[in-house]
Amino acid sequence: MRKNIVAGNWKMNKTLQEGVALAQELNAALVADKPVCDVVICTPFIHLASVTPIVDSAVIGVGAENCADKVSGAYTGEVSAAMVASTGAQYVILGHSERRAYYGETVEILTEKVNLALANELTPIFCIGEVLAEREANQQNEVVAAQLASVFHLSAEEFGKVVLAYEPVWAIGTGKTATSAQAQEIHAFIRSLIAEKYGKEVADNTSILYGGSCNPTNAKELFSNPDVDGGLIGGASLKVADFKAIIDAFKA
Ligand code: 13P
Repeated sequence: MRKNIVAGNWKMNKTLQEGVALAQELNAALVADKPVCDVVICTPFIHLASVTPIVDSAVIGVGAENCADKVSGAYTGEVSAAMVASTGAQYVILGHSERRAYYGETVEILTEKVNLALANELTPIFCIGEVLAEREANQQNEVVAAQLASVFHLSAEEFGKVVLAYEPVWAIGTGKTATSAQAQEIHAFIRSLIAEKYGKEVADNTSILYGGSCNPTNAKELFSNPDVDGGLIGGASLKVADFKAIIDAFKA
């Protein structure tokens, strides 16, 4: 069966020293009180090589927040999937709405990134989600279906390595979350698309995380939905107490 996962997305926060301290504090808290779900922290590129050796890989996985859409070469400022993997990181967030909105990432670019992540044995945490105007026009289903084109070219075996994250853009960093019912409805829809494409078994095995103003107060209710398999956490992943409280939402 699919895994429950709580993943942190640090975004562009924390100096190297602050990030190392955060990872150390989280690691100590989770080693002392083991989580019952998988936990991942996705950090800026420059933190990866310092963070992977200081966390216990039995309790915390480490990931990047992006990778290049090219293998290697003259792409100044880019970081390849192979470079990410060489730090010991196991995950990479791809298709985050901030990357799509501010850095022009298209379905085609993201298809390349997904392929390169998998070729380098990184688990993509692939993000989809609609903006407010699309939600208000009741277009969220069409929007997420179109975004899934960046992963629906994969074979069933390859797709089985992908984690999905549904993040309604209007809920990111706004303090406004999808209601539990809204989250369940669209997660079930996403799972139905996977079932149509790859069959029920693959769909049942796919972890679909919710992201967008997830916090210690709303996590338990969101995660209690049958099709919500955890969260992708922005702001609340920067404080160990809050992030751990969200992780502990999976405990009885
Ligand atoms: P917030 O939890 O800060 O709303 O961010 C969600 C997010 O974008 C995670 O990728």
